[in-house]
Amino acid sequence: MQLLTAKLACLVALVAQLDLTNAVKHADFKTCSQSGFCKRGREFADRVAAAGPAWTPEYELAKDTISLNDGVLTATVFKTVDEKDGGKVELPLKMSFLVNSVARVQLDEAKRQKGEIELRHDSKARKERYNEAEKFALVGGTNYDVHANILNSDEDSTKIRYGWDGQQVVIDYKPFKISFIRDGEVQAVFNQRNFLTMEHWRPKRELKEGEEATVDESTWWDESFGGNTDSKPRGPESIGLDITFPGYEHVYGIPEHASGLSLKETRGGEGNYEEPYRLYNADVFEYITDSPMTLYGSIPFMQAAKNGSTVGVFWLNSAETWVDVTKSKKNPASLSNEKQSTHTHWMSETGILDVFFLPGPNAGYVYEQYSDLTGTTTLPPQFSLGYHQCRWNYVSQDDIKDVDRNFDKFDMPYDVIWLDIEYTEDKKYFTWDPSNFNDPLSMQKQLDMRDRKLVVIIDPHIKNDPNYSINKEMNSAGYAVKDKHGEKSFEGWCWPGSSNWVDGLNPNAVTWWKSLFDLKRFPSCSKNVHIWNDMNEPSVFNGPEITMPKDNLHYGNWEHRDVHNLAGMAFHNATYGGMIERDGPGNERRPFVLTRSFFAGSQRTAAMWTGDNQASWEHLAQAFPMILSQGIAGMPFAGADVGGFFGNPVPELFTRWYQSGAFYPFFRGHAHIDAKRREPYLVDEPYRSIVRDALRLRYQLLPVWYTAFQRASKDGMPVIRPHFVMFPNDPEGFGIDDQFFVGDSGLLVKPVVKEGQTETEVYLPDDEPYYDYQDYKVYKGKGWHKVHAPLEKIPLLVRGSHMVPRKDRHRRSAGLMKFDPYTLVFAINNEGKSGGLLYHDDGETFSYSTGSYIRKSYSFDGRNIISRDFDVPDERIDPAFVDSMKNVRVEKIILVGVPDDWKDKKTVTVTDKEGEWKVDLEFKKGEKGYANVATVRDPKAKVAGDWIVEL
Ligand code: GLC
Repeated sequence: MQLLTAKLACLVALVAQLDLTNAVKHADFKTCSQSGFCKRGREFADRVAAAGPAWTPEYELAKDTISLNDGVLTATVFKTVDEKDGGKVELPLKMSFLVNSVARVQLDEAKRQKGEIELRHDSKARKERYNEAEKFALVGGTNYDVHANILNSDEDSTKIRYGWDGQQVVIDYKPFKISFIRDGEVQAVFNQRNFLTMEHWRPKRELKEGEEATVDESTWWDESFGGNTDSKPRGPESIGLDITFPGYEHVYGIPEHASGLSLKETRGGEGNYEEPYRLYNADVFEYITDSPMTLYGSIPFMQAAKNGSTVGVFWLNSAETWVDVTKSKKNPASLSNEKQSTHTHWMSETGILDVFFLPGPNAGYVYEQYSDLTGTTTLPPQFSLGYHQCRWNYVSQDDIKDVDRNFDKFDMPYDVIWLDIEYTEDKKYFTWDPSNFNDPLSMQKQLDMRDRKLVVIIDPHIKNDPNYSINKEMNSAGYAVKDKHGEKSFEGWCWPGSSNWVDGLNPNAVTWWKSLFDLKRFPSCSKNVHIWNDMNEPSVFNGPEITMPKDNLHYGNWEHRDVHNLAGMAFHNATYGGMIERDGPGNERRPFVLTRSFFAGSQRTAAMWTGDNQASWEHLAQAFPMILSQGIAGMPFAGADVGGFFGNPVPELFTRWYQSGAFYPFFRGHAHIDAKRREPYLVDEPYRSIVRDALRLRYQLLPVWYTAFQRASKDGMPVIRPHFVMFPNDPEGFGIDDQFFVGDSGLLVKPVVKEGQTETEVYLPDDEPYYDYQDYKVYKGKGWHKVHAPLEKIPLLVRGSHMVPRKDRHRRSAGLMKFDPYTLVFAINNEGKSGGLLYHDDGETFSYSTGSYIRKSYSFDGRNIISRDFDVPDERIDPAFVDSMKNVRVEKIILVGVPDDWKDKKTVTVTDKEGEWKVDLEFKKGEKGYANVATVRDPKAKVAGDWIVEL
């Protein structure tokens, strides 16, 4: 009977999830005014702003407390409060000046730091403000600049100099304010508008009879939403800060939101949002586009750009966070509509205030500075850059085998097929459904024949079933997240019905979780299986805002509210660790892990996708700004469900989506369980051939993708790059988020995302020639150009100056292309030059980190093409790897945009260390408006060799 009730309740929860109305359930998620601290934060900001100069600042730094030693400044900030509350609250300040020119500001609360507070409801929660987000997010970059020194100090302020480029920081005491100066100009100011907030601890006071409340405490002590009550044992604890970017018109980042790349204003007005951008990882069902609503992951990293300069701010806080954005005009008296400075207001529910200022001076430096702190994207295994085929669900191992065969039959390349939740026995992860997946190894073997992989889903909710050994182990060892009393495992509802959640913050739980991936423990699983972590916000169907209650307790008795936004990352990190250990020491291969929830640092172990989108043109158009936002927030391995998760795309939408998807760093088709089957070979002609072309284009350009990922894994440069990153001196491009560049290849893409469109406009940021990728039509001149875009065409140009490396042989998977020859396409610029890089390694192990890689530079100076190592002299380069590549050829060289007088050239001379030989050159005169093209077939040059082609 109990089981029946449980099943029924699960069904209700499921039906609620599966309701296919076309709108997000707004009522399931808070607005700012329904989130106590956000409401208080905005109201406070409004009060301060309304008072103007009459506002009495509450925060003051005590000058005589300042000391600067070895790159660290400490001081005390005092907050003035009511006499009855003690008059003053002591807030210890720590400012760190780092060698990479980054500055860090940390503000804590002395009383909570010392644990001198009382908790309510007999809670076992920790008393301190949460200060461990750095343990999860940071991997380095925090070395102090011991040469930081005080330039001058007077009655009002102290000026410090630090960093490589002599950055300066001015700390004003009253009102307390910090200005960051680079190149003699103020780039950012903390607390310019006096919105700094640190809600200090105070005991709850019951009103005496007849006493009237002087402040509205209605959201201080407990909060209810959607039938759930948060007991808030520590009372109000929020933090807030305004950060102004003077002279900066655009801000970007703080994903994940289904909104534009350049962030809109959030306090109303035409075309603006009414709500702040919210960061509170949640399973937002059927999310809407063009909205600041929260989504599945959060990265509290923002960049501001103005002509010639980019700076960044990293708000290291894993609690619920809201960010308001407003812009002010250059001169309020003028009628000009020009927006000049951007003001942001950050509010988090709990934790210490911990903010990094990244001085740039351009986007590339900002990404290096951010990567120093949080790490770079893991270099993906090569197969994972190919196409992934998923649906909820492939129903049996035979179904999988059949789909696999059909891809071959229809000549469509793919690398990975996926199993969603139904492959398990009753949603118990690490098991297989005994009837439909009774021989999982046979399926894995078939895939392996073409070097293909299987990804299976493993979620963090563990079915609460006494006969499920994994649940038993977890609960008996105390590895699950606890409820608010801290004794029992928290119990809630998800796919399996009643479930408990593994606590990724508990190091012992992590060790245990990792052990589950051991092939001896995970039955019928082989090495070509990789992992998908979903629902890790965590999604709890019957929880507040479809997630965990904030007063749940994690390891170390931190409340869930403190760590909510990093919990998903802690989980996928553990999975990644398990996958590494699975292969055993010395045999590690790069794991592929996909996560839905993420935080700053997630890039080190996982790829992400944008969750449950819809088969609509709006969602197709929304995907690129979201993926670009991920990339500039340090997490470039990102994609969106191709075809749209919910609903059934019409063939045109389906086709256009594959053309877009071919340019997602993570390229996966996926569909909801109720959606019709839509493997790409099922669509009718002419769509099928066009989709095949898009898949083949992806595979042809795999060398471009891999080379771009290699760079991202080194210095954090995004894989797909918006205009503001590529052309920092061209503000006209700063708002563009529907066209972008792929790595350093010069490929400029503007996929069509509108119904019925056969022509589009592409913006060129400079006066170089841009060549159509297919037919070499030339577009020239800074500004907008019409580009023909019938259904079969993806508007794709190559900027003169760049070399595009390709692999032109059609194969069934990326693995089978490993030793295929290359085609190098040189797009020639106004100076008659071109060049680029190409990276190779074994594509699957970590041996690149000990020198088993080759990075070649191919440059064309107008006369010669020179192939040489980019990293010379790098003694670490492993000769054995170089040897393994010795037979890989360049099969074709194409020069696009050669001058007319090349018509008389008939041969070229190739020279390498073995000798010199002649090869034919074929010249093709371009029709009017098209480029001249010269082709050298089979120059007998090795892709990894040093050689010169004299033209
Ligand atoms: C979630 C995921 C979706 C998956 C489904 C079933 O909705 O976002 O991709 O198919 O769960 O596991």
